[in-house]
Amino acid sequence: MERTLVIIKPDAINRCLVGEILRRFEKKGLKIAAMKMVTLQPYVLKEHYAEHKDKVFFKGLINYMTSIPSIPIILEGKDIVNVVRTMIGSTQGREAEPGTIRGDYSVSNQNNLVHAAESKEKAEEEIKRFFKEDEIYTYQKMNFDWIYSKDEKYLKK
Ligand code: CMP
Repeated sequence: MERTLVIIKPDAINRCLVGEILRRFEKKGLKIAAMKMVTLQPYVLKEHYAEHKDKVFFKGLINYMTSIPSIPIILEGKDIVNVVRTMIGSTQGREAEPGTIRGDYSVSNQNNLVHAAESKEKAEEEIKRFFKEDEIYTYQKMNFDWIYSKDEKYLKK
């Protein structure tokens, strides 16, 4: 199954939205393969957000992301990168569609509650950045047989 990297950000923790965000992922049927609470280091975030290094908001972004702990998570499922990107909504909270996590709970460009990898390639790269191999769990979820059809479970795509 495909994996993606999600980060529940400091604003979500301060605003008591961790449970709500996890609830949405779990109710959708996504599997949690790894999760931890950690204060992210500036050097890790500078690498993670390297594409934004020349943007005016870069310094503020690093300060915000290092202010208190975050919760990096690995989610697993079919087409999971696209599924999660759809669930979180577009980057800018004010423009995000209602029904998405950002659309329902964020009105900010920076404080948008959650990060999710934007492609399969990025997901693999980001998983390695935030997790060691022995922090990632392989297990059979009890409701797996009811989440996907037989065909979906055994077909690669
Ligand atoms: P994320 O999806 O983690 O990817 C880059 C982050 O930069 C983004 O979420 C926001 O937290 C932040 N960001 C993007 N655009 C802006 C902006 N215009 N002003 C401030 N922060 C931004």
